[in-house]
Amino acid sequence: MDVCKSIDEIRDVVKSLKIEGKQIGFVPTMGALHEGHLTLIRQAKEKADEVVVSIFVNPEQFGPDEDFESYPREMEEDLKKCEDEGVSVVFAPNRNDVYDEEKFIRIEVDELNRHMCGGSRPGFFEGILLIVNKLFNIVRPDVAVFGQKDIQQFQIVSRMVHEFNHSIELVMAPIARANDGLALSSRNKYLSAEEREIAPGLYRALSYIEKQILNGVHTPSLLMKHQMSELEAKGFKIDYLGVFDKNTLQLSETLNEGGEYILAGAVWLGKTRLIDNFLIEL
Ligand code: PAF
Repeated sequence: MDVCKSIDEIRDVVKSLKIEGKQIGFVPTMGALHEGHLTLIRQAKEKADEVVVSIFVNPEQFGPDEDFESYPREMEEDLKKCEDEGVSVVFAPNRNDVYDEEKFIRIEVDELNRHMCGGSRPGFFEGILLIVNKLFNIVRPDVAVFGQKDIQQFQIVSRMVHEFNHSIELVMAPIARANDGLALSSRNKYLSAEEREIAPGLYRALSYIEKQILNGVHTPSLLMKHQMSELEAKGFKIDYLGVFDKNTLQLSETLNEGGEYILAGAVWLGKTRLIDNFLIEL
């Protein structure tokens, strides 16, 4: 497995692979790899000949009061996991390799940013698009795999690929879950033992709401309010909980037959922010 630090190095390696006629699958990550990431790597392996994984904790997608400094960094373990999964190349740049001191150009996200994580984390998706756009230009993959857990990210990146004419196929891999339903996340490491017991409550609330919607509740706002109170009683602080149109990402107060929706929630448990979602087709 090649480990590239500089843009020149990764470009050379990818170029040689392309000359050999290899299709490149790409999995961008911020490291602290868990089973969820490994699922993405396995999907990329199915779709392409060689897999490139990037490991970079992107400062641009963290707000000033967020956990950039404390975000888990586990490079040695991550490299071992990539090697075991048969990854061909890891791109692990330093901040200065990727970003200039001064930036004059930014990417803005419009309406797609208004709700869900975009609503509560200003600048988050702009920071993501900045790095994903750079990584796409550096790695030039044929296929890139992202997880459903960050579904708003997937939808916004898809839009960028379309509007900026990247010639990359995007694949969304399903959410990897612990046995009790908790969506796997690098941030789950922050949970205390007691919080870890409570954490699957979000998954359970979403499962309950999904069932009610599939059973015919098509104006779910009361149902949401009720579930929010239940979650609060268990110790969660609600960031958002709602049903959103899958394509526009706007809040859907009334659900229609034939519609495609994202039932999504973000909650705080102590200092840990948890997100989860279900895709619903009516
Ligand atoms: O999903 C993530 O881990 C990050 O948002 C990504 C896509 C690697 C960009 O930093």
